[in-house]
Amino acid sequence: MENPLYTAAYLAQIADRQTALRAQTEAYLTGLETCVLEIGCGHGHFLTDYAAAHLAKTCIGLDIIFERIERANRKKNRARLTNLHFLHASAEDFLAMLPTTLRFSEVFVLFPDPWPKRRHHKNRLMQPEFLANLAQRAGQGTRLYFRTDDTAYSTATTEVVQAHPAWEITTDPWAFECETVFQQRAPSYHSLVARPKH
Ligand SMILES: C[S@@+](CC[C@H](N)C(=O)[O-])C[C@H]1O[C@@H](n2cnc3c(N)ncnc32)[C@H](O)[C@@H]1O
Repeated sequence: MENPLYTAAYLAQIADRQTALRAQTEAYLTGLETCVLEIGCGHGHFLTDYAAAHLAKTCIGLDIIFERIERANRKKNRARLTNLHFLHASAEDFLAMLPTTLRFSEVFVLFPDPWPKRRHHKNRLMQPEFLANLAQRAGQGTRLYFRTDDTAYSTATTEVVQAHPAWEITTDPWAFECETVFQQRAPSYHSLVARPKH
């Protein structure tokens, strides 16, 4: 059911953002069948290295902080990578405006904000609704790679994935190692790899 707090003006703002994103990405999303997605890419260290090592894959990194995307784009331009795109966008807006034919081959969620206070847990990315949205863009070979240094968030994510009708945890190895900014600062971390059940 629609949230009654969503006013018409608020919904119009969301629609405008998604229309702008569609226009911004049209050139490389039109006709694209699969891509690699990183949500919360920060300054783009991981995805720039990943794209350089996988030139045949189109890689898209999202972050809601504009300055981080600017830095990521500088890194991409220095590396002269044409298979890499960084976007100033939330995962929610991006998923909502994607062409329905596009599938993710890999999705990386690396050190997402842990929102440690119980009353803020609802802000965490790894929630059943988000996993359901991702599953709509997942094919048989899709893998979701999640890494965090927050033990409570790791445990909660394991539980959410285990209980989810569309995803299951796999013992597949981590796809690609490259330290992110937050990984460099973390004394230790937990990793989870999931695949769609279908
Ligand atoms: C803790 S930082 C980790 C950055 C990077 N992955 C790393 O490991 O260094 C989390 C990032 O996720 C971004 N973020 C938070 N919510 C997001 C959302 N809904 N969609 C896209 N990015 C988001 C934040 O702006 C921030 O840059």
